[in-house]
Amino acid sequence: MKAHALHATVTALLAGDKGLLAMDESTPTCNKRFAALGIAQTEESRRSWRELLITTPDLSNSISGAILYDETIHQSRQDGTPFVKLMADAGIVVGIKVDTGAKALAGHPGESVTEGLDGLRDRLTGYAALGARFAKWRAVIAIDAALPSTACIAANAHALARYAALCQEAGLVPIVEPEVLMTGDHTLQRCAEVTEQVLHEVFEQLHVQRVLLEALLLKPNMVLPGLTCAHQESVDEVADATVTTLLRAVPAAVPGIAFLSGGQSPELASARLNAMNRRFKGRAPWALTFSFARAIQQPALDIWRGEPGNVQQAQRALQQRAACNRAARQGKYADLADAAD
Ligand code: 13P
Repeated sequence: MKAHALHATVTALLAGDKGLLAMDESTPTCNKRFAALGIAQTEESRRSWRELLITTPDLSNSISGAILYDETIHQSRQDGTPFVKLMADAGIVVGIKVDTGAKALAGHPGESVTEGLDGLRDRLTGYAALGARFAKWRAVIAIDAALPSTACIAANAHALARYAALCQEAGLVPIVEPEVLMTGDHTLQRCAEVTEQVLHEVFEQLHVQRVLLEALLLKPNMVLPGLTCAHQESVDEVADATVTTLLRAVPAAVPGIAFLSGGQSPELASARLNAMNRRFKGRAPWALTFSFARAIQQPALDIWRGEPGNVQQAQRALQQRAACNRAARQGKYADLADAAD
């Protein structure tokens, strides 16, 4: 195992109170976000959007690494400079989504298992040769009165652990992402129970597969009430429930926890991360950071709408969200008024 390289990558990803920009939407997901805003769903539109993100001035002040999709890692700026070179020049570590998506789990209606293990060793070697230093795999866990099933949790945890072991063998830091969804009317307490159960199984499987905990990042959901739950807890209550759950299930050897945003508004995602860092300063054994997609991209996408004339203003919105989230890592988000938009 290339332990030295893995540690160097983890250190770079967590340095300077920065976080990750997830820009690894699959083509169907990216097209869905474009369709909602009337943006053309073409390869050139997706390239232009990713160029806007990557070429945002001073992005590396707040962003240490960005997660790309297969299409994007092969793309270039309009003048032909590869995106991976632009990122290297800016000091942004290249990451790559390597799962091939969540597919229906046989015999378990409403549940999925994430696929992509077949051929993964060779794909990881190829991505490393292109310049990738870390990877991502997302497992999806739905909650309702009867879900999740034991089978869903077990299948996804096993796949995450086998993916993580293959990543470390290839010298890539695995981002291990078990996402318990916000969809539904479940309570925060129920989300806490399910999240804890899922994390216990994930870390059991990581142990079984001999994954080095010091050389991975966990990308979990925050512990939240379902989107349609009548009672929505305060920012501080969410922060306390989230960190309490993680303290029960995530070994202290893990260097960092980089949250997904999962459909939270940009402001709430930042405020909740900020509250965690403020309230647990000096008590949490891992860095608490961000790996947001929607909560960091959406304001910029709403401005851009596919119009070249909107690029600079959209880039300013991305800079602003990135800076807010860096401040949230320091527990200083309230100091950076969103009104500065
Ligand atoms: P969101 O922040 O939009 O949940 O996306 C994070 C991510 O990478 C999903 O896999």
